[in-house]
Amino acid sequence: ETTVNQQLIDFHEQAAKLYHHILVNTEMGEPALKYLNDRGLSDEIISTYNLGFAPDKRLLLPFFQEKKADFQLLRQSGLFIENQEGQLRDRFSGRVMFPIRNQSGKTIAFSGRVLVKAENSPKYLNSPETDIFNKRKVLFNFDIARAAGRQTGDLVLFEGFMDVIAAYRAGVKNGIASMGTSLTSDQIVAIERITKKLVICYDGDEPGQDATNRAIGLLNDEPNLNLNIVQIPERLDPDEYLKKYGSDKFQKLITGAVETPIGFKIQFLKKNRNLDNESEQLDYINDVLKVLVTLSSPVEQDIYLNQLSSNFHLDKETLKQQLSDLRQTMP
Ligand code: CTP
Ligand code: MN
Ligand code: MN
Ligand code: MN
Ligand code: MN
Repeated sequence: ETTVNQQLIDFHEQAAKLYHHILVNTEMGEPALKYLNDRGLSDEIISTYNLGFAPDKRLLLPFFQEKKADFQLLRQSGLFIENQEGQLRDRFSGRVMFPIRNQSGKTIAFSGRVLVKAENSPKYLNSPETDIFNKRKVLFNFDIARAAGRQTGDLVLFEGFMDVIAAYRAGVKNGIASMGTSLTSDQIVAIERITKKLVICYDGDEPGQDATNRAIGLLNDEPNLNLNIVQIPERLDPDEYLKKYGSDKFQKLITGAVETPIGFKIQFLKKNRNLDNESEQLDYINDVLKVLVTLSSPVEQDIYLNQLSSNFHLDKETLKQQLSDLRQTMP
């Protein structure tokens, strides 16, 4: 006897197969296939990620009805939207489909991307929460990344699906992404089961930097997780960086990540500040010292004090004095 969850997973597996077929074998899928090819995705990578296309017409409903699928289960699947009269229609239409897999590699949800950005509809539309999909627990690509991460000793956290796939294309197969939200505690637990090192590689734009700062804050309380930060230059996102600079540079950028959370913070605190202005410079230095005072390693503190002293032509002893004053005021 198959359980409800097994049947829901089976629906998703079948839907993914159908979406993929539409994308790669039909005329309906041609614009989407061209879109993906234009973004640099080969047919091989499209197959690896089982990408698909949900056409702008009824697809899943007639398909499952034909198979005499249980109506109640279809309602529960999240693959449909129900109207006031209790009728179902396909949730996804006119979108490139990204299957979201569980740890066993089975599809449990989808995210669908519009081909052309429009004002009135979101760029990515995710499946709703269901019995088999809790978006707080799922990480995109985790099944592939955990095998790769056990080899490399780390996982790389990206913002988006296309970034994870870009990384894979460049040979960085240990990439994961949360489902369009900040990292949750369940996801952190899942990461820590695999590895002691996480590389954060969010978009290089301002929202990406803010998100990096928030993620560092979240992971501050995780002594078992070493963090490195990658900042993508020119405000590009990883996928755009790969397109512009190619695989070798991409790989070097990620695998050569050395920036620490503190190093990132010291840069991040410069944001929106005019450091030529004396009082803003003082504010900045104070904020940096407030970060440094939280460091338990004196050596690490010393490294950053040296930097600060040389960057702003300040006497290191004065900085040290201020740091110890700050320490006095700490609880
Ligand atoms: N996201 C989402 N809903 C949106 C926009 C974004 O769920 N309306 C999530 C997606 O998981 C997306 C991630 O947030 O991959 C990062 O957003 P963004 O950087 O805007 O998108 P990209 O990943 O760069 O998407 P693309 O390259 O396809 O434009
Ligand atoms: Mn295929
Ligand atoms: Mn972004
Ligand atoms: Mn992006
Ligand atoms: Mn992008």
